[in-house]
Amino acid sequence: MYEQVSHSVLNDILEELEPEIGNLQLRHFYTRLGANFYAIYSLFHRLYGKRDDFQVQLVRLVETLARRYIERSKPLRTSDLEREENFTWFLSQQWVGMALYCDRFADDLNGLRGKLPYLQELGINFLHIMPMLDCPADKSDGGYAVRDYFKIDPKFGTNEDLIELAATLKSRDMLLALDVVVNHTSDEHEWAKKARAGEQKYQDYYYVFPDETVPKMYEETMPEIFPDTSPGNFTWNEEMGRHVMTVFNSYQWDLNYSNPAVLIEMINIILFWANKGADILRLDAVAFLWKKMGSTSQNEREAHLLLQLMKDCCQVTAPGVLFIAEAIVAPSEIAKYFGEDAINAKECEIAYNATMMALLWSAVATKNATLLNLGIRNLPTKLARATWLNYVRCHDDIGLGFDDNDVRLAGYEPAEHRHFLNAYFTGRFPGSPARGLPFGENLKTGDMRISGALASLVGLEVAIQTGDPEALEASIRLILLLHSVILSFGGLPLLYYGDAIGMLNSLQYLEDPFKRNDSRWAHRSSFDWEKAQRRFEQGSVEQRIFFPIKKLIAIRKETDAFADLDNRQLISCDNTNLLVFSRTDQHGSVLVVCNFKDQDELLSVGNVVSQGFFQHGRMYDLVSSTFIESVSEQISIPSLSFYWLTDR
Ligand code: GLC
Ligand code: GLC
Repeated sequence: MYEQVSHSVLNDILEELEPEIGNLQLRHFYTRLGANFYAIYSLFHRLYGKRDDFQVQLVRLVETLARRYIERSKPLRTSDLEREENFTWFLSQQWVGMALYCDRFADDLNGLRGKLPYLQELGINFLHIMPMLDCPADKSDGGYAVRDYFKIDPKFGTNEDLIELAATLKSRDMLLALDVVVNHTSDEHEWAKKARAGEQKYQDYYYVFPDETVPKMYEETMPEIFPDTSPGNFTWNEEMGRHVMTVFNSYQWDLNYSNPAVLIEMINIILFWANKGADILRLDAVAFLWKKMGSTSQNEREAHLLLQLMKDCCQVTAPGVLFIAEAIVAPSEIAKYFGEDAINAKECEIAYNATMMALLWSAVATKNATLLNLGIRNLPTKLARATWLNYVRCHDDIGLGFDDNDVRLAGYEPAEHRHFLNAYFTGRFPGSPARGLPFGENLKTGDMRISGALASLVGLEVAIQTGDPEALEASIRLILLLHSVILSFGGLPLLYYGDAIGMLNSLQYLEDPFKRNDSRWAHRSSFDWEKAQRRFEQGSVEQRIFFPIKKLIAIRKETDAFADLDNRQLISCDNTNLLVFSRTDQHGSVLVVCNFKDQDELLSVGNVVSQGFFQHGRMYDLVSSTFIESVSEQISIPSLSFYWLTDR
């Protein structure tokens, strides 16, 4: 029934479109609109069907899609067509990413172009540049409090510089990922300013309340995200004489997506950046998009409907562009951001594998892989044409978001285990070599998260201070071990700038009054190019990290079985210090064996022989280019090390 209605609505809309839109060469646009319109209509109707202005808003939405299509450049349209044809292109093992801050890695966008050879030397061909849009300098949340969605902050350059960078990246076969901060704006955004000045239209873009009654009801069930620096979820605005919802920092106003005008504005912004040449858009804090009283206001069904709508609309105008979901939520919830009730991804094609990230850190602290194995086994299955973004560190804190049941099955008490991990990584646990910093400590609940650079978290900082060569070796091994997992697991590996040369925490942020209270800045320091240069010094720490990672990246790219085609099998083994899985394609299999224990460990060949491994008593390690022989039906894996084994 709906389908018929949607067809006739589409005909009406096409009649209503302004003549200049109707007349242009829009063949592909109309085909895609026809193919996606039923979904767009149904979702839009489900969210906004009860409103009087439903039809008007729907026409505006379609107009937005058409205008952005008309604007889309020829090369981008060509790339759309190619990607529609080769629609699993991003599942290839060829892609290896890095996240970096433009101004901390280079000076600005033009400077960044000059740094691409370094990235290519390492093997990086997918760049996530942290947000660069205009933000108030003193209240930016690292770029996530946007004042103007259409303008690159002049300190990074101009929109033209970005277009040029995108073209340079394309010519080097590199991908560009940009952020779209969909959940909130800066309180200095023009919408917020107009809302403050009393304009009802813009107050309706946010959650604005005259008194505390409604905010208090929301607060009953909404957790706090930044409890220490920005407690609660509402902020009183004196000028407006109103309370406004601010889930993150008090200067970040949450957008109200129950208003279709907000959704249309955001789709317009998404397509604007798609048209500037972004291959991938990282949609920030998507779990928070829909607020509902009596709930945590995270992962609501409507948040998913909004993302589906955004995806369907993007399919019409810029189908070559992918979405990354940044939803750092419970394991059972994350996979839903690929889209539910579908075969192919219907929301975001890529999602942060926050579960695995947290599990890896648990393995580092406990020096065994018990919980890691359980957590990976219970990782929700993802859809076809969807992939994980696998990472060890990113610009944010580490939240220990694994499943409590798994924690219990691993033999730990959940609260106690989290407490231990937090103590371990902040160096408060006796003997811990980690030097992380607490983040978002909640004195009411005792919760906290962890900041810090990878190298400082795995003990490199302490090892350098004490000059202990064994500790140094152990920390370097851990850095490589963690990278070996994200590079072989299946999905897009995303390295964090600085990690490949072992950059440590920097406490410089403490001198900046606007950053002082946010320990995440400890791992967001300026890239140290002198340190990077030391990768060429024989035996230096930088060399011992950079070149092995470079090698792993190169091997990954050559190994077809590492493409993400749902071709991973976790293998149970008797030794819980080990993580063992296979990756298989038509050319053969790779057996990945990781040892998280700080001593050599044995794998019984019996655990893997039935899967076809070690049939002849030995296998070839792609990394060390040596044969690994079994002795008495066992192979030995050195402490904090790994193998990528094949038959050859
Ligand atoms: C995202 C960003 C984080 C930011 C938050 C609020 O989670 O990754 O850095 O603080 O959104 O915008
Ligand atoms: C919360 C949010 C996540 C954000 C982080 C910033 O964990 O869920 O989106 O990145 O806070 O600290």
